[in-house]
Amino acid sequence: MSELEVWAVVVAAGSGDRLAADRPKAFVRFGDATLVAASLAVLDEHDGVSGIVCVVPAGFEERLSLAADDLGASKIAAAVPGGASRAESVACGLAALPDAAHFVLVHDAARPLLSPALVDRVLAGLATGADGVVPALPVTDTVKRVARDGAVVETLVRGELRAVQTPQGFPLAALRDAIERAGDGLAGATDCASLVETAGGRVICVDGDTENLKVTSMSDLARAEEIAARRRAQPERG
Ligand code: CTP
Ligand code: MG
Repeated sequence: MSELEVWAVVVAAGSGDRLAADRPKAFVRFGDATLVAASLAVLDEHDGVSGIVCVVPAGFEERLSLAADDLGASKIAAAVPGGASRAESVACGLAALPDAAHFVLVHDAARPLLSPALVDRVLAGLATGADGVVPALPVTDTVKRVARDGAVVETLVRGELRAVQTPQGFPLAALRDAIERAGDGLAGATDCASLVETAGGRVICVDGDTENLKVTSMSDLARAEEIAARRRAQPERG
């Protein structure tokens, strides 16, 4: 698949209500830059990635371009405004991809600690011909389905469950088709793979990374900062 271009769409258009910072979550300070810059740096440096589109809150396009300049990033082709939900923001990003893009990696700016090795695993999964590839981790908590009134409906079989992360990889045509078919159901999708599953695609798991955590609250941000600081001090283990 070496001749087939892989592009990345980084979704960074959320408001970050649960973090409750004074700016959109993606632009919150992280290390010596911002949360979104951390992901952009890894993807920009990865040889398997040809280009990047970043989806930002309306009005933040210029800020993103400045951040890309600060990083010395060379593959960021566009910063485009997002939509009302994550899935709609993904659609905005896909619309900005060039015709040359064959595969797409969709990544949340809220996960600043993705590693090049994780990107490698997702790309290897795509090379097997899957319609979708998700990094996944075993679940350690017991998970129950619960009714609105709080009554437990059932306890799920933990051994069958996985918690999935980003980046998620897809043949671009498969993800575009799945989004089109989702119609009004698009806004409710919490990840891209679920759309491809619903459209009948074959989605496979590759090993996730316990350090690739999602920053939702201030305590997540503090934990992510600690991991990033440790990686800076021990870059060979990054
Ligand atoms: N996202 C997006 N557009 C939206 C909503 C979310 O691009 N309309 C992105 C976020 O920027 C984030 C990722 O989707 O990188 C995962 O969303 P989440 O962690 O929920 O971020 P927010 O929606 O910003 O946070 P919150 O739900 O606390 O408001
Ligand atoms: Mg959200």
